Amino acid sequence: MKPINFNGKRRSLLLASALAVSVSASAFLWLSPKTELIKKDFTVAEKQYTQLLKTSTDLTAFPRTTNKDGSVKTTDVWDWTQGFFAGSLWYIYEYTNKPEWKAAATKWTEALEQAQFLTQHHDVGFVMYCSYGNAMKFEKDPVKLAQYNKILIQSAESALTRFDPKVGLIKSWNAKKSWDNKTTWQYPVIIDNMMNLEMLCYVSKLTGNPKYKDVAISHALNTMKNHFRPDFSTYHVVDYAPDGKVLHQQTNQGYADNSTWSRGQGWAIYGFTMMYRETKDKRFLEAAQKAADFYISHPNLPKDKIPYWDFNAGQKGYTPDFDYNANKLSYIPRDASAGALTASGLLELSTFAKNGNKYFKSAEQMLKSLSGSEYLAKPGTNSGFILKHSVGSLPHNSEIDVPLIYADYYFLEALLRYQKLQG
Ligand code: GLY
Repeated sequence: MKPINFNGKRRSLLLASALAVSVSASAFLWLSPKTELIKKDFTVAEKQYTQLLKTSTDLTAFPRTTNKDGSVKTTDVWDWTQGFFAGSLWYIYEYTNKPEWKAAATKWTEALEQAQFLTQHHDVGFVMYCSYGNAMKFEKDPVKLAQYNKILIQSAESALTRFDPKVGLIKSWNAKKSWDNKTTWQYPVIIDNMMNLEMLCYVSKLTGNPKYKDVAISHALNTMKNHFRPDFSTYHVVDYAPDGKVLHQQTNQGYADNSTWSRGQGWAIYGFTMMYRETKDKRFLEAAQKAADFYISHPNLPKDKIPYWDFNAGQKGYTPDFDYNANKLSYIPRDASAGALTASGLLELSTFAKNGNKYFKSAEQMLKSLSGSEYLAKPGTNSGFILKHSVGSLPHNSEIDVPLIYADYYFLEALLRYQKLQG
């Protein structure tokens, strides 16, 4: 073997290659701030949901939020939030690729099987698409795939039972009293209902039968016509007569009939973006962008871009019909669930809109805020949920400033979308 000559050219060559090796090694170890953030959040998610899985062993009781004593509050299979736990488990599996998360996700998805027959309200799309819809991305077993698809087709049939062609929309709730007890809503449709349409589009693709997607399009077009105000803020509830005439435009979970409930505005941004993806109808893209512009440029949106529970809470010109003071709050709570789902919607919107970068940047700010100690739970706290500070329904004095399972779900979804986008 020839001895190494440490003089002249040979030495500088050696030094240069040593440097190159160390640079490429550190480049390999270096994670961008974005990757670091996503990694940190999923580390917290894994810890928290390990805890939640330990405390949630009854497959008929789906984690939703916390009770005052810190125990986990659950719902049964006929509510609207029961699909988000399975969905969150699928997202953790998507990020980690660890088989134990797939096993847990499968178990909690299959626990929802009977909800395919949910017809007493509109939320079957939320429940079944966040769970079985996500399962379709990861399940390889053809027998299971066929079974899941059959369940999704029945779920879409259940949704269609609530569609009256004369009205042109899926009825959200059966006739009921308005929140102020002054009106009886006959055919109430809420902005949230946009989120049930993705499953219908999927089932049309799956079966080749356009009827499901046709209903989705009809619903979205009528929602576009009647839920938006001229500034593209949204009414929460629109009530219809049997011939499709608009009877009332009100709220149920917002501050006042003329206010903008933050989560509802988020549902609009997300829902119309999704309908644009599914149809390429430019009207949906325009609606999504205008709703998003209202949201991100609103003077009451705090700097961290996590909204108050209602954009107009406590403001002059907005008169609540519930006793706002009865909630005995000394502050206006934020709604992290609205922040999380809006971040997810904006990230998708950023891929379609010409000026998409402003939506991307806003979403990025939302995710950074939600990843800070103000919103992200310290592992071992928050009863196993990931995010703090959401609001279910303040007028009903229910779930105020608590963790909510759907905040976690959309947060994880947004992180995964963020991971896939360059900005
Ligand atoms: N979809 C019900 C809610 O957002 O509270």
